[in-house]
Amino acid sequence: MATVGLSGCSLQSQSFSLRSLRKSCRVQGRSRRNVCFTVRAKTENGVVSTSANEATGPDLSVIVNGLRFPNPFVIGSGPPGTNYTVMKRAFDEGWGGVIAKTVSLDSSKVVNVTPRYARLHAPNTKEVIGWENIELISDRPFETMLDDMRRLKQEYPDRILIASVMEEYNRASWEEVIERLEDTGVDALEINFSCPHGMPERRMGMAMGQDCDILGEVCEWINQKATVPVWAKMTPNITDITQPAKRALDAGCEGIAAINTISSVTGINLDTLRPEPCVEGYSTPGGYSSKAVRPIALARVMAIAQMIKREFPNQGLSLSGIGGVETGNDAAEFILLGSNTVQVCTGVMMHGYPLVKKLCSELQSFMSKHGFTSVEDFRGASLEYFTTHTELVRMQKEAVKQRSAVRKGLASDKDWTGEGFVKETETMVSN
Ligand SMILES: Cc1cc2nc3c(=O)[nH]c(=O)nc-3n(C[C@H](O)[C@H](O)[C@H](O)COP(=O)(O)O)c2cc1C
Repeated sequence: MATVGLSGCSLQSQSFSLRSLRKSCRVQGRSRRNVCFTVRAKTENGVVSTSANEATGPDLSVIVNGLRFPNPFVIGSGPPGTNYTVMKRAFDEGWGGVIAKTVSLDSSKVVNVTPRYARLHAPNTKEVIGWENIELISDRPFETMLDDMRRLKQEYPDRILIASVMEEYNRASWEEVIERLEDTGVDALEINFSCPHGMPERRMGMAMGQDCDILGEVCEWINQKATVPVWAKMTPNITDITQPAKRALDAGCEGIAAINTISSVTGINLDTLRPEPCVEGYSTPGGYSSKAVRPIALARVMAIAQMIKREFPNQGLSLSGIGGVETGNDAAEFILLGSNTVQVCTGVMMHGYPLVKKLCSELQSFMSKHGFTSVEDFRGASLEYFTTHTELVRMQKEAVKQRSAVRKGLASDKDWTGEGFVKETETMVSN
């Protein structure tokens, strides 16, 4: 492993290029600027609001790719980051960072329909467990979104604002969009390789994210141009999510964000026989989010974290966990699986921007309970408890032998009885 010093910058890497060196220096420069800021921002009426976790308790601040976030909670790209007003609200409520709604150069091609959301409720309750959307990327003019981001960075210079971007398979367009976004002062870029509806019809979003060769090539174009950290946002609608994630990191991205929504059909109205969300009697498959996707998101985040540990050790690459987060404990699970930050989108649409205060205090309670004083104290701590099924069998055989104890549960599938079926199932559940 080589240690390289240049103009006050140093980085460790097994293989590096001038490009990554230039980006790393820029990132480190930014980290110096941001390390000591106090998270305070003026609201419209001049009242000073503080970050959601400024009260006493374990330190929630995280430094990711050289950027300092006051807490790991980041607004995920979507409706909660569509314009200046809502992004400002997020900063004022204390969100650690904001990822703006995805933009592209030509918004005139983006035409949304209404209704574009459909919810899945838990049986016999009003509780929302799943959320489908067929919303496209931002339908606001690119210049308008640039103005919003520039204004936010002027008013909140020390808060983390990340632009989300999607483009067609055209190098010049990517270079233009990146240059103009960076010019607003945004701190990082998130590349949307993952929107599952609408945009793939134009070979964008998920269509790019599912093709490792195209994704790798586009990431190279992006990283040759970008001077701020780049996160690639992955689609879960692929057999092995670690493959595009590795290609993105190989091509110079500093981080991975996962997951975007899961391809879905929320349901069919049994009176009208029409699918939801129903637009003029018709629908199209959409993207699924909220609570129901969390276990799937956790599995994908775990797989990506293992891959980063194995393939890119000690290179400071980051992981942003996304999917169904509504509580501090949900976030703790993503962090235990290696996430540096945790994004929330649908949770904000259901509970509003003040949710961040609850997220922070619940995460702090979890940390206090375990004696963790920083997020890094427990980040990735649960990864080591995953292994193969073959290894579980070997370990259990070994443990039973060592304890000379009667093994819990049935010894063999032949022992199931119809009579005691539920009790027998209970003997093999772990929680
Ligand atoms: C209505 C809606 C619009 C979204 N728009 C975008 C988008 O423009 N760009 C993007 O990268 N992700 C978009 N997403 C995906 C979210 O950022 C997030 O990856 C996903 O919803 C899972 O997280 P959640 O369960 O916290 O919502 C959207 C999600 C929803 C619900």
